[in-house]
Amino acid sequence: MTEAILLVGGKGTRLRPLTVNTPKPMVPAAGVPFLTHQLARARAAGVEHIVLATSYLAEVFEPYFGDGSALGLHLEYVTEEEPLGTGGAIRNVASRLRSGPDEPVLIFNGDILTGLDIRALVATHASSGADVSLHLTRVADPRAYGLVPTDDTGRVTAFLEKPQTPEEIVTDQINAGAYVFRRSVIDSVPTGRPVSVERETFPELLAAGAHLQGMVDSTYWLDLGTPQAFVRGSADLVLGRAPSPAIPGRCGDSLVLPTAEVAPDAKLTGGTVIGAGARIGSGARVIGSTVLSGAVIEPGATVTDSLIGERAHIGARTLLTDTVIGDDAKVGADNELIAGARIWCNTKVPPATVRFSSDQ
Ligand code: GDD
Ligand code: MG
Repeated sequence: MTEAILLVGGKGTRLRPLTVNTPKPMVPAAGVPFLTHQLARARAAGVEHIVLATSYLAEVFEPYFGDGSALGLHLEYVTEEEPLGTGGAIRNVASRLRSGPDEPVLIFNGDILTGLDIRALVATHASSGADVSLHLTRVADPRAYGLVPTDDTGRVTAFLEKPQTPEEIVTDQINAGAYVFRRSVIDSVPTGRPVSVERETFPELLAAGAHLQGMVDSTYWLDLGTPQAFVRGSADLVLGRAPSPAIPGRCGDSLVLPTAEVAPDAKLTGGTVIGAGARIGSGARVIGSTVLSGAVIEPGATVTDSLIGERAHIGARTLLTDTVIGDDAKVGADNELIAGARIWCNTKVPPATVRFSSDQ
């Protein structure tokens, strides 16, 4: 039986303070809490037992996913009193694992949307005999990630988390946030204190001569760490670019959840999701955006590449491009917000207050 640990703690895990009480893994992407996609993909790859390592706003996970049986999984939850870091979180759930010392345990960062062939990673781990195997992907700008150079057999030669200087950027291969650990390696991580698997465990293992194997897989991959990335990921799920068995409907230009009301002449494109109970007015255009449940978009508004929070209200003819509108916020009619603007939850932008285009 294959089992996995899913890391869903850490501080930056909600679209703070926009979706007020929802940690990021629970914000809906393509209509279901983002975590559902990761859980369903793991299940489809043969994983049966998953331990969620949580810290921040942990209490929201269990009421929603329960014992996991709805997804065909057995789920367990472990909550850290203080965030233990990635390595500490992994070590902290070791007692819940059932694998023997030499057996493989999958570990996933909880904010990654990917088409990774999970079975292939496990197979690579088995055939290489590695202590740890890592999914690697290539990105144009690796500075926000862990750099992982490998030799020509794929064996990892170094691990450089968030390189600071140009000299440190020795490769475009980065840690994609999915690993297979030999169970005994998990047990060797120190207990009772924060540990970073990226800054401490991997460099120490390499220094001690352990075998870390990289598997470059250039399938769809996105870290949903920013609101922009989150909106992109949700749209890519709807468009079918990012594969997931958990999408509640057919892939296509848009996904409209039951009880949403969309005016017949409104246009929904680019992977837009309209949440339950949301209302889209006549002539409105919503492009590549996620509209959460209960939000209202008035007639003639145009919303592009944006996240509209629960029960938020977007006034008539307002133009939003690359914005995040917090839960219960109200943007009045005839505004223009662009370029990463974030409107805090429960706040109001009066009608005709902000414009970017030239005055008529
Ligand atoms: N339980 C728990 N406790 N989980 C944690 C903690 C913690 O203290 N700290 C972080 N996590 C979880 C986060 O929720 C996330 O799912 C995952 O661990 C990675 O943490 P991030 O904070 O998202 O790290 P990052 O995106 O800056 O970098 C990581 O991911 C990159 C790929 O997206 C690193 O693993 C990089 O090496 C990697 O390239
Ligand atoms: Mg991340």
